[in-house]
Amino acid sequence: MTAGDAWWSPWRTAEGSLILHVDLRADREHEERAFELLDEVERARWNRFVVEGARRRFALCRAALRVNLCERLGCSNEELSFGYLEHGKPFAIVDGVPSDAGFNVSHSGRHGLIGFARQDGLGVDLEVRDPLRDFDGIGGRVYGPLERRALSSATGGEKAALFYRLWSLKEALIKALGTGFSLNPARFEVPLAMLEGEQSAMFRFPHLPSDQFWLEDLGETRFAAARACRLGEEIEQVAPLGALRG
Ligand SMILES: CC(C)(COP(=O)(O)OP(=O)(O)OC[C@H]1O[C@@H](n2cnc3c(N)ncnc32)[C@H](O)[C@@H]1OP(=O)(O)O)[C@@H](O)C(=O)NCCC(=O)NCCS
Repeated sequence: MTAGDAWWSPWRTAEGSLILHVDLRADREHEERAFELLDEVERARWNRFVVEGARRRFALCRAALRVNLCERLGCSNEELSFGYLEHGKPFAIVDGVPSDAGFNVSHSGRHGLIGFARQDGLGVDLEVRDPLRDFDGIGGRVYGPLERRALSSATGGEKAALFYRLWSLKEALIKALGTGFSLNPARFEVPLAMLEGEQSAMFRFPHLPSDQFWLEDLGETRFAAARACRLGEEIEQVAPLGALRG
């Protein structure tokens, strides 16, 4: 597949990290090519989707993930499969051997993101902003006290922007950890500096004080987005992601 035929393109990059943007608009040719790349397990999942948009988002993102992981891991599409951790976070398996390559996927509306990192512990999230939601009501259930206070004092478009910014930051953290819904998002808050507008900061979950994460707001006009990376012994700092042109 040549770069011009692909429905994904580099979106943000920094040393050792890359985030691709995936175009999830309906496109019969892209969807057929994506389906061809899926394995039997993924095709069975594709068949179980009842909602057309959800099926398309899954297939286009999973196929893009496959092509790019094969390149990074030096394997063929047939050699690549996926395993799932306890709460559903996927990991790559090459020829039957689990890999610790870090990646994470998010999709919403017409947009998808696929993040790659040197090692596991990566979470990315993308949320298309829907202006017609009960922001204070939902925020009251999923945000902590300082987050709720910031949300209730915002008005109009600022409230919607803050709601989705907080959502994507918190979900990127939950996805980096891999716990999904089993962790109540109201039990932790984004770093105060980020609540006050900073673009990135270090973060620790209250129940996991020895694990440190790097959290970065990647929101833009089309959607809210964020990346969270667990910092390991080898990696103590993460370079902020820069925008790519073209
Ligand atoms: C999967 C989960 C982590 C995110 O789901 P979502 O918002 O529907 O979906 P996204 O598009 O951002 O991410 C889905 C992708 O994440 C990956 N994923 C699935 N389970 C995951 C997990 N436990 N951890 C990390 N990534 C996971 C998969 O690649 C999935 O894509 P696929 O189904 O096409 O393979 C969801 O189970 C969840 O628990 N979300 C928490 C929601 C929440 O409370 N948010 C509050 C924010 S304040």
